[in-house]
Amino acid sequence: MTADEVRSRYLTFFKKRGHIIIPSASLVPENDPTTLFTGSGMQPLLPYLLGEKHPQGDRLVDSQKCLRAEDIEEVGDNRHTTFFEMLGNWSLGSYFKKEQLSWLLEFLTEEINIPKKRLWVTCFEGDEKLHLPRDNQSAAIWKELGIPEERICFYGSKKNWWSRAGEPENMPKGEPGGPDSEIFYDFGTVHDPAFGENCNPNCDCGRFLEIGNSVFMEYIKQEDSSFKELPQKNVDFGGGLERLTAAANNDPDVFNIDVLRVVIQKIEQLSKKQYTNTTHQKSFRVIADHLRGAVFMIGDGVFPSNTGEGYILRRLLRRAVRHADVLGMPGDSLKLLVQGVVTVYKGAYPNLVAVKQSYKIEKEISGEEEVFRMKLQYGMKKFEAMAMNKAISGEDAFQLFSTHGFPFELTLELAKEKGISVDEKEFRAAMQRHQGVSRKGAEKKFKGGLADHSALSIKYHTATHLLHQALRDILGKHVFQKGSNITGERLRFDFSHSQKMTDEEKKQVEDLVNQKIRDELPVSYEDIPAGEAVKLGAIGLFEKKYGDKVRVYKIGGLDVESGKVYSLEYCGGPHVENTKSLGHFKIKKEEAVSAGVRRIKAVLE
Ligand code: ALA
Repeated sequence: MTADEVRSRYLTFFKKRGHIIIPSASLVPENDPTTLFTGSGMQPLLPYLLGEKHPQGDRLVDSQKCLRAEDIEEVGDNRHTTFFEMLGNWSLGSYFKKEQLSWLLEFLTEEINIPKKRLWVTCFEGDEKLHLPRDNQSAAIWKELGIPEERICFYGSKKNWWSRAGEPENMPKGEPGGPDSEIFYDFGTVHDPAFGENCNPNCDCGRFLEIGNSVFMEYIKQEDSSFKELPQKNVDFGGGLERLTAAANNDPDVFNIDVLRVVIQKIEQLSKKQYTNTTHQKSFRVIADHLRGAVFMIGDGVFPSNTGEGYILRRLLRRAVRHADVLGMPGDSLKLLVQGVVTVYKGAYPNLVAVKQSYKIEKEISGEEEVFRMKLQYGMKKFEAMAMNKAISGEDAFQLFSTHGFPFELTLELAKEKGISVDEKEFRAAMQRHQGVSRKGAEKKFKGGLADHSALSIKYHTATHLLHQALRDILGKHVFQKGSNITGERLRFDFSHSQKMTDEEKKQVEDLVNQKIRDELPVSYEDIPAGEAVKLGAIGLFEKKYGDKVRVYKIGGLDVESGKVYSLEYCGGPHVENTKSLGHFKIKKEEAVSAGVRRIKAVLE
């Protein structure tokens, strides 16, 4: 079975059961500063899981592009990938455990023909300390559906609780989560005792593959860290498309499914090596995964850089270059892998075949390979200078790595050839210090933001709409949103405009936003057909996100003369009820992001 077949069967199956098919959101989340990339299907739907009404109703289904950069080091085995598609179906307070588990089993066994005897399931064993009950209901449903008791296993909150932050203890206040029931495919291979005495569904020996997770999202963490039931009981199901396809084909290697195989075959051709030769398999997998991820990232507007999303893209591409060298692929050949990915995905993701898109993707990839190779040459010179001392300190090796992008394995390899010692322990310590600092940054990042629906983030969200409209009023109608990032401390707004804004223009924009705040404009929303929203002149990035019906947020009452409200924008919310609560708006910085795109950082005082 191909990935396309599994995807379309899934979407159709749930459509027949009253679900509306919604398109995948971008890999780069909108207005959600908690993560760099969309890492699960539920992320773009967060407001609706928390109780906002979705314009398309309370049963949704999709296939969401996801990227989990934290899995970068895991890539190389037969199942981990950084980029993947997550098939997802949601009940926003419509159905719950019984319907979810029986439909899932029906889909797996009847639509993609997975034999029931291959399936094992897990359920939440409860957490007495946190007063979270054991999920006996799910276990009873599974049993009724014909999964024998010995294949129904219970685990604690490390394994069978899902929230974006992981276990209940790690969840920030205001974050939703709940017990989950995972489903595993049993390849029936012999257990490898290197992974523990006994095999079980969560064992990593390769016998079991997790193919789906039904999260019963019914709790929200409160200010006092206890858990309260959400106003509606939701289902958030996520299943990795690549893994489901591998299970449908009874092949434990996800790199053998068509969408990855196409890249592997091209690598075989370019490297003149065979994927089946286990010596090289890791490099094949790293290149195939990273390259596919890079194609989708660039397709969604990410470019290689030293910060944020661009840095992750850079890391993926540079690792791919290193592994291309291991396989002996000719220089500048990564770009030759792009076409295969674009072709195999063009039905599901037509944006990849938009005019000149694949050319743009190839150009970015080729450019980054070139920059990296130049860096490697420069790093090599630095290395040679350091090697004169007959020993390389850990700090020096770390400098080579962090400042010059020179991989540590390469330092080791060169040094070995020359019979020079490298202080590996000191290097690892420097690396750990560095990672500690980044981790702290990431933890801090998770705390703020619109995703937690803090009052401040919501204010910044409304201020962003006012700013967007004010920029169009002052600078012209060529201004469109290119990106937005909101925390509880500031807003950051990227927009199309090619010159630096003058001080006068900045002041005019500030004054206009402040005027609209003083005017005490009401904020409201309406769910209307997309065509109507276009006719009304709604602005924003959300045009293709929600399918037929879209939500538009209005700021201001209807102006009799113009027949318009002040701001009309596609958006999922949430927003304040009236602009009067925003305070005073101030632009802190205006700068270039890339050719034709400017960025404003602003605060509410
Ligand atoms: N949100 C759940 C997951 O990502 C389904 O596993």
